[in-house]
Amino acid sequence: MYLGKVMVVFGTRPEAIKMAPVVKELQKVTDITTVVTVTAQHREMLDQVLRLFEIKADYDLNLMETQQDLFSITTGALTGLKEVLEKEKPDLVIVHGDTTTTLAASLAAFYMRIPVAHVEAGLRTRNKYSPFPEEMNRTLTGRLTELHFAPTDTSRENLLAEATAEFKIWVTGNTVIDALLSTIKKDYQFGEEFAGIDMSRRLLLVTTHRRENWGERMREIYQALLELVEEFPDIAVVFPVHKNPIVRNVAEEMLSGKPRIHLLEPLDYEPFAHLMNAAYLIITDSGGLQEEAPALGKPVLVLRDTTERPEAVTAGTVKLVGTNRRRIYEETKKLLSDPREYDRMARAINPYGDGKAARRIVRELVSFLYVRIGAQG
Ligand code: UD1
Ligand code: UDP
Repeated sequence: MYLGKVMVVFGTRPEAIKMAPVVKELQKVTDITTVVTVTAQHREMLDQVLRLFEIKADYDLNLMETQQDLFSITTGALTGLKEVLEKEKPDLVIVHGDTTTTLAASLAAFYMRIPVAHVEAGLRTRNKYSPFPEEMNRTLTGRLTELHFAPTDTSRENLLAEATAEFKIWVTGNTVIDALLSTIKKDYQFGEEFAGIDMSRRLLLVTTHRRENWGERMREIYQALLELVEEFPDIAVVFPVHKNPIVRNVAEEMLSGKPRIHLLEPLDYEPFAHLMNAAYLIITDSGGLQEEAPALGKPVLVLRDTTERPEAVTAGTVKLVGTNRRRIYEETKKLLSDPREYDRMARAINPYGDGKAARRIVRELVSFLYVRIGAQG
């Protein structure tokens, strides 16, 4: 029986990585038409993921501009999506996480009275400005959502605390684990992007991009890295730098050409996942890395004051260290010098899923469409 049409909307690198398993799983269901729309709020970094997972977008709004701000992405996505939704008239729109694309797509669907399914629902810090604007993007998206796919019990609890109806929430695990497990290979060989890096050193994998850290905080972080390479001759910093010029300019100004600090272009997900696996420890302000690294047994120092992902902090493999230079230096030094402290954090734990999240999500989407057809008579 034909069940209907679903439109999957995303726009950035992490959304693409986490939605790829859902798209793949949906495409297996012959009774559903799957339409993929990308806002391309990111361009190269999005295309890298689409290539790897062999996903072809049916619609590409091609929004990205070098100097984009929250207003231009929001209005561009809203107007672009209006046209696509009017043309395709999907029965359901699926969004992911907490980006501006996420909020704009849920709002566009709401304006068209199309139900929204939210993947990675219910993450909260309860601090409107941290992370900014993601905390409000996901909270507002939650109000517009019919089907909430919460990755963990904690995220389910967060939704219940906001009076979300219990029967609209499913705990599925995080689809990032699906993506990670399908990407990691035992016999992977690093390619030419790693030429010049001595992979036998203890590798500190670094990524930064958060808006809250732009400016002085980012300088503090990079200063701590400079002090660490100076103090520990056996380490190397590997830092695939986000394409955002606000991040890139400071990273290049402070770190380029320094011994044992390797600034790379954003890596394809496959080499990046294996780099995480090869790293000694990870220093990051990313959301996704806080979910992936614990699964690989890598300690993570998080360059933020708050996290919406408390599960791995509780389990002891992730630690919030903020952006103070001294604190980053001391916490990293502890892990580099004290094997007991390192072993305590370097335990593989998997609070974020078993690699079957996308299957659970698609099963519920199928039920939803089935019941909907029944209700329409
Ligand atoms: C966005 C999301 C953030 C998510 C992050 C993942 C919002 C407001 N922010 O932040 O939630 O955690 O993506 O990385 O939705 N750029 C390129 N090429 C690319 C990608 C970005 O050149 O492929 C540059 C452009 O100059 C662009 C800038 O990066 O203007 C910023 O991109 P934007 O999506 O606005 O913000 P992010 O910091 O990437
Ligand atoms: N990632 C990648 N290449 C890189 C850096 C990160 O593929 O060079 C992946 C990483 O494994 C994770 C996601 O991108 O799945 C995280 O993206 P980002 O940190 O930009 O966003 P956030 O997770 O903070 O929203």
